[in-house]
Amino acid sequence: MTIKNLDWQNLGFGYIKTDYRYIAYWKDGKWSKGELTQDNVLHISEASSSLHYGQQCFEGLKAYRCKDGSINLFRPEQNAERLQKSCQRLLMPEVPTEMFIDACKQLVKANQDWLAPYGTGATLYLRPFVIGVGDNLGLSPATEYIFSIFCSPVGAYFKGGMKPTNFIVSEYDRAAPHGTGAAKVGGNYAASLYPGKLAKQRNFSDCIYLDPTTHTKIEEVGAANFFGITKDNKFVTPLSPSILPSITKYSLLYLAKKRLGLEAIEGDIYINELDQFKEAGACGTAAVITPIGGIQYGDNFHVFYSETEVGEITQKLYNELTGIQFGDIEAPEGWIVKVE
Ligand code: PLP
Ligand code: COI
Repeated sequence: MTIKNLDWQNLGFGYIKTDYRYIAYWKDGKWSKGELTQDNVLHISEASSSLHYGQQCFEGLKAYRCKDGSINLFRPEQNAERLQKSCQRLLMPEVPTEMFIDACKQLVKANQDWLAPYGTGATLYLRPFVIGVGDNLGLSPATEYIFSIFCSPVGAYFKGGMKPTNFIVSEYDRAAPHGTGAAKVGGNYAASLYPGKLAKQRNFSDCIYLDPTTHTKIEEVGAANFFGITKDNKFVTPLSPSILPSITKYSLLYLAKKRLGLEAIEGDIYINELDQFKEAGACGTAAVITPIGGIQYGDNFHVFYSETEVGEITQKLYNELTGIQFGDIEAPEGWIVKVE
């Protein structure tokens, strides 16, 4: 093994072609035996349901290099289960958990030269996806599918990583009530591109979306979930049927309670009650934990802890989460799967 010579400390979040990707085909009611391939181009029918009707879903998880050189995956069965739920929602065949985890392991092992050295903070991001393919014109589910995973070395998603960044509340919704907000499907992200562009034009890193029914409660960030730390030290994160059930957020709810001794709550966070929070952050696989400096809502800019400094509890949560992911802190049972 020879780790690639990339500028690991300054890596952003972009596609870098690695050597191998995994691919399996669904045909005649079953998955083929998946295999690794060096070809990073998919050859699919022009009439594929994924291209026209958005019949596709995806996942995101990371591989981490530990101090002893071994490689960790973080809660991959959670990604497998969420992908299964997304597949159910869009009438696509589910990928069994065992097949999903085995594919992740094979892929990481084959591309281990692309996984950053320990201590650089960089990781290998895995992007599993299922797409409807085959000849399909009318609006109906495909009869053929591809399950594939590629990976790419990544650094921070939001510029600066563990540095406060600012968000703006969008007037748009990313998902409808009773829609597909809780599934990780491309349509939600397509809907967020334009609001995201408007936010970036005004120098904000991303949007905060409000609940699509009343527009009074925080839902999530375009590419991550939201959490706040109240002035009396409660960890609070939104509970909504139209947000993505973030694996990072559920991990933080657990860690806040069990390791930091905080009260941890999933509940309503009203946009006009931000004063209750002394710290806030965005959390997700790509975002890890990104402290939120401030949120623009209409004409009002609300600053939480600071626009330049990281709050104490946000820092503790970050240390605990990343310590577990990189194998420096003991993980709760079942959270780490070794790539061997
Ligand atoms: N919310 C959205 C819209 C996301 O795209 C992501 C990223 O996956 C998250 C939340 C965080 O989810 P997770 O922690 O499972 O990566
Ligand atoms: C992730 O964090 O895995 C995501 O899917 C977010 C994506 C917008 C990069």
